[in-house]
Amino acid sequence: MSVLRNGKTVVLETENFHYVIEYDDFGYVHNIHWGGKCPIEDYWVDDLGDENPNHPNLDQIRCEYTPFGKTMYRPCAVKVHFADGCREINPEFVSCETGKDTAVITLKDCYYPLEIKLLYKVYEEYDIIKRSVCFVNTGSDDIVFETLMSTELTLPGTEPYHIVNTNGGWGAEFIPADTVLEAGSLTFESRQGRSGHINSPYVIAYTDADELKGRVFSAHLMWSGNFKVKAHRDLLNITRVTLGLNSFDFEHVLKGGESFEAPAVICTISDGFGAMSRNLNRFGYNEVLPKNFAKKPLPVLYNSWEATEFDVNVKDQTALAKKAAAAGCELFVMDDGWFGARNDDHAGLGDWYVNKEKFPNGLGELIESVNALGMDFGLWVEPEMVNPDSDLYRAHPDWAYHYDTRKSNEIRNQLVLNMTKPEVQEYIFNCVDTLLSENNIKYIKWDMNRPFSETGGENLEHPKMLWYLHTKAVYSIVDRLKEKHPEVQFESCSSGGGRCDWGALEHYDEVWTSDNTDAIDRIFIQKNYALTRPVKTMRAWVTDINWYNRDTPLDFRFNISMRGVLSMGGNLNNYSDDDIAVSRKYVDMYKSFRNIIQFGDLYRLLDIDKDEISADIYVDDAKDNAVLFIATVNTRCMKKTLPLYIQGLDDSKIYEFDYEDKHYRKSGAFFRNVGIPVEIRKQYYNNIIKIKAV
Ligand code: DGJ
Repeated sequence: MSVLRNGKTVVLETENFHYVIEYDDFGYVHNIHWGGKCPIEDYWVDDLGDENPNHPNLDQIRCEYTPFGKTMYRPCAVKVHFADGCREINPEFVSCETGKDTAVITLKDCYYPLEIKLLYKVYEEYDIIKRSVCFVNTGSDDIVFETLMSTELTLPGTEPYHIVNTNGGWGAEFIPADTVLEAGSLTFESRQGRSGHINSPYVIAYTDADELKGRVFSAHLMWSGNFKVKAHRDLLNITRVTLGLNSFDFEHVLKGGESFEAPAVICTISDGFGAMSRNLNRFGYNEVLPKNFAKKPLPVLYNSWEATEFDVNVKDQTALAKKAAAAGCELFVMDDGWFGARNDDHAGLGDWYVNKEKFPNGLGELIESVNALGMDFGLWVEPEMVNPDSDLYRAHPDWAYHYDTRKSNEIRNQLVLNMTKPEVQEYIFNCVDTLLSENNIKYIKWDMNRPFSETGGENLEHPKMLWYLHTKAVYSIVDRLKEKHPEVQFESCSSGGGRCDWGALEHYDEVWTSDNTDAIDRIFIQKNYALTRPVKTMRAWVTDINWYNRDTPLDFRFNISMRGVLSMGGNLNNYSDDDIAVSRKYVDMYKSFRNIIQFGDLYRLLDIDKDEISADIYVDDAKDNAVLFIATVNTRCMKKTLPLYIQGLDDSKIYEFDYEDKHYRKSGAFFRNVGIPVEIRKQYYNNIIKIKAV
C-alpha cells in the first residue's frame, strides 16, 4: 500500500518519503509535509492562529490547490467565471477516495455546479507522485476558465529556494537558470504554441543541494504547448509553485455535463540532483514512454540532414546509405527535401507525396537498397506546417491560422496549419498513414519548425482554446498512427529541442535535442537534457559540424554521443576508409553496452564547467557492469590531477578495469571513497572504460 489514511490525513508513501495532505470540513486541502517519514498518527494540521485584520489568515494555508476567491491573494491555481458573472470559487469538501496507489479528493463549489477533483497517483519506487486536477460541470450553463493550473506545490519550510528553469534558445537548449527567490514571483512560460527552446515546463527547487546530497524537489508538466510555471514567495516566506496551461490568451469553456482533466505533473523528491535524474530516467521508460519501444534498446541511426540538407535523391542517398551501413548503422533516416517541390525551405511543406524528379521510382527504390544493406528506413515530415508555395496551400488557404485583416508572418517561409479543424487533422493523418502503409518505413522524424503567429481560427466558437486544442490534436494523430503502425518509432523534433518535454515523451519514443551537434557544446546540452529526462530518449548524432573552427577529433565526438542514443549525421561521403573504420569500432562498442546506457543509472562524476573534465558513468541494474566516459577539451597550467570518485558501484563488490597504464582491481567502496587519479595533459583527451565486477 502506498496510500495510507488516518482520519482526514492522507499519506502518499514512496520508498523514501511521505507526501502528506489533510482535508478539513471547510473545503481546504492542506499540504502538511513532503519529506522524510514519520508515524502517520503524528501528522496534524497547524491551526490558523489569530486572525490579523491586516494579513488574512487564509494566506497561511499551505493549500494543495488555491482557487481564486475569498481573501487568498497569492497566485491562484484556478479562476473561472460562471454564467451569472460570479468570478469566485468557494469549495466545500465532498469526498476522499483512496486506492492502493491513488487518491482522489473531490470538492465542489458551495453554490455553483462545479466539482474539482484533485488526483494523485503514487509511484513508490521512484519517489514520484503524479498529480492532476479534473473539473466537472454538473450543471447546464457554460463555466469559463481563465486560469487552469494542473498543480500547485507548497514547498516545505520558509527558507528562500533556488528555483531552476532554463533560458535557452535554438542551438542552445536547456541552459539552466538558477535564481534564489526571496520575494514576489518568478514566471517561466511559453506563448509559442510549443513548449519551445527558451523556458521549460518544469521547476527544480532546492535550498542547499548538489549531485549527491541535499533535498531536491522537482515538478514536470506533461505538456508540449503553451505553459506557465510560476514560483512565488509570500509575506510568510512560504514558497509555492504552480504549473499548468498558460493563462495568456487562454480560455477553456466547460459546457454543462462536460469534464476536463488538465495535463498531469510529475512531482519528484530526492536527495541530490543525481537521484532526481535517475528516478526520472527509470520512471520514464517504465511508466511514461509509449509502450512499443519503451523497453527496447533503440537502434544506431544515420540521418542525412547535415550531409545533404534539401538536396536528396535516390543516387546520393543510396551512396550515403552504403557508408552508413559500413559504419554499423542500423537505421537510415532521410531528412527534409524528398517531397513536393521541396528544393529549399521555400516550397513543398504540406505536399506529402514523393518528388518524382528526385525519386523517379518512388521511395521504394531507396528503401529496398537500404533494407538490402541490412538497415531499416526512416523519413522526415513536418505535418503541422504548410509553405504558401504548395499545392496544399493553393487548395486550402484557410487551413492555416490567419486573420483576414493581418499579413501572416512567414518564419522559415511557412505557416502553421490550424490543427483544430477536423479536416486538417484527417488530411495529416491520411498523408502520414499512406506513407507508412505504402512503404517499409520504421521511423518517423516529426519536425515542427516555427512558433505560431496570427492565430485566428474562424472555425472555433472560443478561439482562445486553439492553443490547447492544437497540442491535443498533435498527440491524438501521433497516437492513432502509432496504434495503426506499432512497428514505427516516432521522434519529436522542433528546430532541434523545441518540443522535448514530458508531454511529448508520453507520445513520441525519442527526441532530437538540438541542431547544435558541436561535441563540446553537446556535453552541456546533453547534461542538462538528461538532468530531467530519460537518457534513452536523447538522440545524439556524431557529425562534422565545425561552427567554431575547432576540428574536434572523431573519437572525441563519439565519446560524447555514446552517452545518449548514439547516431551519426555527418557527411559520410567525406569519410576516409579509416574514418569509417573508427566509426565502426565505436558503433560496435556502443552496441555491446547500449543496454547499460539506455537502461542503466547515470552518475555525473565530474562537470566540464566546474572541473574542466567531463566524466559520466552508466551502471547496470545488478551493478556488475559499468561504462565510464571521460573527456576534456584541455586543461590549463599543466596541473590537472584530480581524484575521480566513482559513484554507482556496489561498495562490497570487486571491480576490475584498465585505465591508462594501470590495472585496477579493487572494491566499489575504494573507487567511491578513495577514487582513482585522473591526470590530463592532452587536448581533446577522451577515454571509455568498461568496468566489470569480478
Ligand atoms: C530542423 C531539424 O532540427 C533538423 O534536424 C532538420 O530536420 C531540419 N529541421 C530540416 O528542415
